[in-house]
Amino acid sequence: MLLSAWVLALHVASAVACSCSSLVIPVDVDVLVPKDPTDVFGGLKSNASSLRRVKDTYDIYGVFCRPDTVTENADVLQLLVHGFTYTSQYWSPPIEEFRNYSYSAFSCDQGLSSLAIDTLGAGLSSRPLNASDVQYPTSAAAITQLARYLKGTSILPGVAPFKKIIGIGHSLGSGLLNFGAIVEGAGYPIDGLILTSSAGVTPNLPPLAILTTARDFNPARWGALDPAYVTLGIRTLLYPPANTSFSPRMLAFDGFTVDLGTVSTFLQTPQAVTAFKTNYTGPIAKVVGSEDQAICVGSTQCDDVAALTAAERVAYLAARSFEVVVEQGSGHDMNLDFLAQGPFSTFVNFVNQFAGL
Ligand SMILES: *[C@@H]1O[C@H](CO)[C@@H](O)[C@H](O)[C@H]1NC(C)=O
Ligand SMILES: *[C@@H]1O[C@H](CO)[C@@H](O)[C@H](O)[C@H]1NC(C)=O
Ligand SMILES: *[C@@H]1O[C@H](CO)[C@@H](O)[C@H](O)[C@H]1NC(C)=O
Ligand SMILES: *[C@@H]1O[C@H](CO)[C@@H](O)[C@H](O)[C@H]1NC(C)=O
Ligand SMILES: *[C@@H]1O[C@H](CO)[C@@H](O)[C@H](O)[C@H]1NC(C)=O
Repeated sequence: MLLSAWVLALHVASAVACSCSSLVIPVDVDVLVPKDPTDVFGGLKSNASSLRRVKDTYDIYGVFCRPDTVTENADVLQLLVHGFTYTSQYWSPPIEEFRNYSYSAFSCDQGLSSLAIDTLGAGLSSRPLNASDVQYPTSAAAITQLARYLKGTSILPGVAPFKKIIGIGHSLGSGLLNFGAIVEGAGYPIDGLILTSSAGVTPNLPPLAILTTARDFNPARWGALDPAYVTLGIRTLLYPPANTSFSPRMLAFDGFTVDLGTVSTFLQTPQAVTAFKTNYTGPIAKVVGSEDQAICVGSTQCDDVAALTAAERVAYLAARSFEVVVEQGSGHDMNLDFLAQGPFSTFVNFVNQFAGL
């Protein structure tokens, strides 16, 4: 695989000087997807006659941030994977000059590098003409192939290939990392997983009807797209129910910067997390917010963390360790509300723990 990388932007974060660069990395994907793009199992339960091959090279866009001084974790990379209708910007929204809400800056201050990617079809990554090519098998394989690449190749002059990659997902991004772990098992090139805003049971998952066809939502931007590219106009569901828990400026910014996803990946998200056990052997942490309106609000499942952990654990019996954290007061977009710094500390603690293995 060839690398095309160029520096587009630099910014300096607070405590430790930190440099960020925008990259585009081509990845080769060769997978079987269900012919029926509404197959909720993403083809994992299908026989050969109901699958088709997708073989393509996709450009994956990402923002790479690293401390300017060499740290003890210089060979560790956090691979940050956003959720449905977000982009890499979820990990560094430019609200209040990045001070409160940038996990990329927060973790860089603590000596950790990160690469926040746009998933297949989203943001500045390749967007296949046919939205039914953007299914769990393709999107997850693009991440797996990217991780392999990052372990074998230097992405920038002076940056060695990474020895350990810790995947941190949000919502659908957690689902994609989880699907990769199901497909790859012990051979998954991602050494530890922190899966946020993702649970085996999602009691209040919104129906497909909540989505809007992207080309109708914003004809100027998306008018030419396949109608199976969709977006979510209603953003308040992604925040805690109490509007005192988040900034109205964040909600407004969220509305201005909404991105898109596909019908397939929306439908495949619940089953990709619940229907299959994985033989993945790395350590796993799941982090959910007690005010997550899809997972915890209106349900008792997040009240007893030990019971929730036991229920979730059954899908990950080969994992080296498994832990669930319920962040009190946080919503589904736990990076974007007033309590974001709490989850950020949790993520950094897990990354340090997992990287030390
Ligand atoms: C393959 O799956 C399709 C769709 O579920 C089904 O109609 C067909 O009978 C299956 N074929 C075989 C050989 O099992
Ligand atoms: C997308 O690809 C599938 C499988 O090749 C095909 O059945 C479908 O018609 C295509 N859709 C569009 C909008 O091109
Ligand atoms: C917050 O919610 C309350 C009660 O629903 C409403 O009266 C108020 O206008 C809201 N505040 C903002 C900033 O949206
Ligand atoms: C996990 O490993 C078991 C035993 O080797 C095997 O039977 C099973 O198919 C594997 N599961 C997956 C999803 O690969
Ligand atoms: C945001 O950051 C500023 C500057 O560090 C701080 O004064 C303010 O309290 C923070 N706001 C929240 C909601 O954390």
